[in-house]
Order: sequence, then C-alpha cells, then structure tokens
Amino acid sequence: MMIKFAVIGDPIAHSLSPAMQNAALKLWNPDAEYIAVHVKTDELRNFTECARRELAGFNITVPHKGAVIPFLDGISKEARVAGSVNTVTVESGRLYGDTTDGYGLEQALAEAFAFSVPKGKIAFIGCGGAAHAAAVWFASRGAAELFLMNRTLATAESLAEKIRREYGTAVHTCALTDTNTLPAFLKRAEVAIQCTSLGLKPEDPPPFDPALLPGTIRVYDTIYKKTPIIRECLRRSIPCANGLAMLLHQGARSFEIWTRTKAPVERMRSALEAAYAKASR
Ligand SMILES: NC(=O)c1ccc[n+]([C@@H]2O[C@H](COP(=O)([O-])OP(=O)(O)OC[C@H]3O[C@@H](n4cnc5c(N)ncnc54)[C@H](OP(=O)(O)O)[C@@H]3O)[C@@H](O)[C@H]2O)c1
Repeated sequence: MMIKFAVIGDPIAHSLSPAMQNAALKLWNPDAEYIAVHVKTDELRNFTECARRELAGFNITVPHKGAVIPFLDGISKEARVAGSVNTVTVESGRLYGDTTDGYGLEQALAEAFAFSVPKGKIAFIGCGGAAHAAAVWFASRGAAELFLMNRTLATAESLAEKIRREYGTAVHTCALTDTNTLPAFLKRAEVAIQCTSLGLKPEDPPPFDPALLPGTIRVYDTIYKKTPIIRECLRRSIPCANGLAMLLHQGARSFEIWTRTKAPVERMRSALEAAYAKASR
C-alpha cells in the first residue's frame, strides 16, 4: 500500500516541495509518494478529515499555516506560540502539528554564514507567518536579542510580547518606516532576515531604503529570487544568501519527523536545485 504525504496551499502548483520530498521518500520506501494538493481555506476541514484516513503526513504552505490549527489534535509549543504549523504528522487517525521553518532557517544561516543562533542577535525585516515561526524558534534556541521590524508595528509588538512571556528573550520592535531606529537595530544585529513578501514580483520596491543596511551585517532573504535587498548586498559586497537552503532544511526536518530517519539532505538539495532551475527557465 502507498504511504502518502502531501503539501497543501493556495496556490500550490509552483511548489518545489514534491521534487525534493519524493527524492528523499523514494530512498526511504519505494511505496511512498508526496503530492501537491490545491486546498482553499473553506476546504481545510474536509481535507484534514480525509488526511486522517489517507495520509501519513502533510506540509502546509501559504495561506493555511495558521488556519489549519483548529483542525488538529495537538501542536508543539513553538507552533502554538508562533500560531503557525507547516508539518502535520498523522498517527492512528490523529493529527499532530509542528513548525520546521525556524529550524530550516537556523540551518541555512549556519551554512551561509557559519552563524550560530544560540546567543545570536538577529533582526527580522517583516513580521508575517514565516518571521513568527523563525523568531519563536530562535528564542527557544537561546538567541540573545531579537529585533522585529514590520510595516504594521502592532503585529511586531504582539509577537515580541509573546516571545518575552514564553522565553524571556530580549525583543525590540520598530516600524519599517522608522528611519532612526531601524538603522540602529541593524547595526546592533549580526544577521538580518528579509521576511516580507516584497521581492516576489520583479516590480516590487524594497521594504526599506537598502542604503540603511550597515556594511557589518549579513543578510538572509527568505525569498529565492534576486530581491532589491539582495541586489544591494551584492553591489556593496555585504554577505547574503537567498531562501532556497531554508526551504531545503525545513523539508528535511519534516521528512525526519515523519519517517524517524535521517534525511538524505544532499539528495534533497540536488532535487530541489534541479526543480528550481527548471522553474526559473
Ligand atoms: N524559504 C522558505 O523556506 C520560506 C518559508 C516561508 C516563507 N518564505 C517567504 O517569506 C515571505 C513571507 O512569507 P509569510 O508566510 O511570512 O507571509 P505573510 O504572513 O503574508 O507576511 C508578509 C509580510 O510581508 C509584509 N509586507 C507585505 N507587503 C508589504 C509592503 N508593501 N511593505 C512592507 N511590508 C510588506 C507584511 O507586513 P504587514 O504585517 O504590515 O502586513 C508581513 O510582514 C514570503 O516571501 C515567502 O515566500 C520562505
């Protein structure tokens, strides 16, 4: 019998996860497969009910990482505090949610900059679902200071409050338009994570004036494309990397949660890079 896994989202056709996960799953068990399923928000209840019977696990992407939570039987502490689930394990018909985005980003920062999250000082540009998951994970891993900068200041403040309460981490916030505090935060941080959705479209402006980036920073952009922020870093030789390694490592962690075996990370990386190159043509 096939052991089935899936990724759900709306839209989902662009997802690179099936290529990466199938490369790993086929090594683990030739009868395992991973498919992309287009699920709209009002279909989440039906999908999760079917998943109890049909699937061994599934990933969740935009826009369902928060919306799926009420349909689950349990979630990890980090997923609860972040309000974000990207990995669900099905066991005896019960659904257990976890978040691996923060783990994926931590591994990506280690690869790109030899950066270590425990005791680290990390700035987030943008405070949506991805930043919530990563900031909570970094707090749980013992980051020294977090700087949360967002267009909507109230969102950054509410996340900061939760993190202080749950983990006791020092968290500072400001609006992306605050041209006094933002550069001061970027000078104090060792790494900045670009977490806004700006840069997905070629005509997108940068989320803030990139001239405010200090030469001392390292920049990780969660988007896989050459965003305006990445272009500025390349122009000024500021160390930078795009979001592909984060995608790889969050997927590798999901694989490990589901199969309880070590992920074949290099096999997954080759499959992901090949799928990305094909999609970019
Ligand atoms: N590499 C990976 O594995 C990975 C994983 C997850 C996500 N991502 C990427 O991370 C990015 C964010 O995803 P998400 O799930 O966090 O999305 P999200 O929850 O929709 O959050 C979007 C963020 O972008 C900000 N934003 C949107 N339009 C803006 C504008 N015009 N000016 C300034 N800020 C703006 C939002 O600010 P407000 O709060 O003010 O609306 C919010 O902080 C996406 O580009 C996604 O592709 C990558």
